[in-house]
Amino acid sequence: MKKISLSGIKPTGTPHLGNYLGMIRPALELAKDYQAFYFIADAHALNQVGDGGELRRMTFETAATLLALGLNPEEVTFFRQSDIPEVFELAVILAASTAKGLLNRAHAYKAAVDANLTSGRDPDAGVNMGLFTYPVLMAADILLFGSHVVPVGEDQRQHVEIAADIAQAFNRAYGEVLVVPEAVIREEVAGIPGTDGRKMSKSYGNVIPIFSPPDQLHARIMGIVTDSRPPEEPKNPDQDNLFGIYKHFATREETEAMRRKYLRGGFGYGEVKQALYEVLERAFAAARTRYEGYLLDRPLLDRVLFAGAEKARASCAPLMNKVREAVGFRHGEATHLPSPAG
Ligand code: TRP
Repeated sequence: MKKISLSGIKPTGTPHLGNYLGMIRPALELAKDYQAFYFIADAHALNQVGDGGELRRMTFETAATLLALGLNPEEVTFFRQSDIPEVFELAVILAASTAKGLLNRAHAYKAAVDANLTSGRDPDAGVNMGLFTYPVLMAADILLFGSHVVPVGEDQRQHVEIAADIAQAFNRAYGEVLVVPEAVIREEVAGIPGTDGRKMSKSYGNVIPIFSPPDQLHARIMGIVTDSRPPEEPKNPDQDNLFGIYKHFATREETEAMRRKYLRGGFGYGEVKQALYEVLERAFAAARTRYEGYLLDRPLLDRVLFAGAEKARASCAPLMNKVREAVGFRHGEATHLPSPAG
């Protein structure tokens, strides 16, 4: 039996190169050695979006992105979180025994409280329960499928640790029911630079989207901040934004050639930007065409997601039954429950 790898992607914001390197690509790679589950975490976006049409549009956009980048729904169980009612059931069960203090310490909530305190507001101003209980919902995603590893970006490390804590507490109370998960984080891509040289992140507004049209991609790259040292001067490639992105998409030989160029000096950043543009086009042009095709076919995306949800529900059913039984809910299969009308 292969071990289980699971990851979710929140359908907010256009996926960018940082998401690609930090989590989309590693998760696609893990699909070779693990039984892989990959889902669109639309319920995690509810506390932020507040517009049904918009959430649905972003969900389709994210599904199209992953399929275009090579996620194979025959190999990976690929689904939309909100199609799995068991996730919500498990979240309620887990919330019942999760210490509030554990969630008080979660980074996103703490940051919101700190910002409120700094500006003299009520500590919980603008904080909804979706934000506060976010880690519990995420623990439910992870624990429902018995995930051993969770490939995520560094920013999600704490969430996986909270899920592990919640699993251990549950097991202490009810016996060994849940698998204690572990985060898999690619250190080498933990901080791909954005266009301003800070870590690429939606919250900094410095991202390079994976699927910009060529002219926009070109403009984004030309806008990357560089220093004003003269071309002749030798430069350290490892301290440069352009090189920091380039090396992830160029071949080994291209990267070494570029490294030598930096160390030698005598080149302009414009030249590197052009080279960066070319490796990114090479990496993503064909996927972009597929992406645009998927976006025009929502019924196809729906079929793929529903088929994935069916597989996902079949996989989680035995564990969910164990959980229900452990906490004292109904016993065994729900054959006697009324089936929903329609
Ligand atoms: N919180 C993750 C993010 O913001 C998305 C996510 C939701 C997730 N549930 C998950 C990731 C379960 C891994 C496993 O990117």
